Amino acid sequence: SRIAVLVPGKMHDRVLAQLKDRFEVVTVDRDETLKLDAETAKRIRGVALSGVFPAAWFEQLPNVEIVASFGVGYDGIDAKLAGSKGIIVTNTPDVLNDEVADTAVALLLNAIRELPKAEAWLRDSNWKPGAAYPLTRFSLKGRHVGLYGLGRIGLEIAKRLEPFKVKISYHTRSRHADAPYDYHPTLKGLAEAVDTLIAIVPKTPQTHKTINAEIFTALGPDGIVINIGRGWTMDEDALIAALNAGTIGGAGLDVFYDEPNVPAGLLSAPNTVLVPHVGSASIPTRNAMADLVAENLISWFEQGKPVTPVAETPVKQ
Ligand code: GLV
Ligand code: GLV
Repeated sequence: SRIAVLVPGKMHDRVLAQLKDRFEVVTVDRDETLKLDAETAKRIRGVALSGVFPAAWFEQLPNVEIVASFGVGYDGIDAKLAGSKGIIVTNTPDVLNDEVADTAVALLLNAIRELPKAEAWLRDSNWKPGAAYPLTRFSLKGRHVGLYGLGRIGLEIAKRLEPFKVKISYHTRSRHADAPYDYHPTLKGLAEAVDTLIAIVPKTPQTHKTINAEIFTALGPDGIVINIGRGWTMDEDALIAALNAGTIGGAGLDVFYDEPNVPAGLLSAPNTVLVPHVGSASIPTRNAMADLVAENLISWFEQGKPVTPVAETPVKQ
């Protein structure tokens, strides 16, 4: 009989189609405890999902070998716990790097040149003889951009920014030997040196609300902050206060602390560009991510080797 793979909740059609070619696909609604009879639960050997894998599911699915997660961030899965149980977790790195980096640069340009606001002004029929949209306060040229995070996506953002005549620096836990940018051992030190901060760090206990009042003060009144990683890293109350007080100059956010809830204070704060977690959200990139989710499961069950296991669940050779 076919290997049984569980798909809890919504999943990209392309993953489902590829899995159905090879496996018995069991679909079920997301729930803290999955509505599966014990016999079926015991037959499940693989899981494909987006987002959270509650720890209780490890108990409920005693024979699961691999959890293939759709997305690069896998903070919804306790990968260490999975690793300790010999369960592989895979994510979808690299195939989205260009898309997310493009989105980050777009957010930065839009926050600085106010294109969304200028467009709304035009659509509201404000453009009449003698009327002009107000000059924007900021230019990108000559800025000093600090990257908070210099992983695979961060490096793509940095590469894209090089032709924009900006200086680039970064902060990560450890220096990259071969990155041609100034390294700052602390986020505060980076924020003091730069006027523009782009955050692309994962959700970990160490990154919680690290972009806070102290960082906004360090960036200064012309400061722009962009977040394309996880809302978890942002102290949104402090950001709202800083934008309203003019402690910083503007923000561009793709991610929020409690998605899909965007605080009213952010919606009404000046100089913000807010988009609904669309960093990787193009048809071609989501197709590539879907293919990689399916490939991980297929490769594991057919060749005994996942394609992109996460660091916490290395595959023993
Ligand atoms: C999106 O946020 C992802 O982690 O892929
Ligand atoms: C100093 O701590 C720095 O990060 O620049």
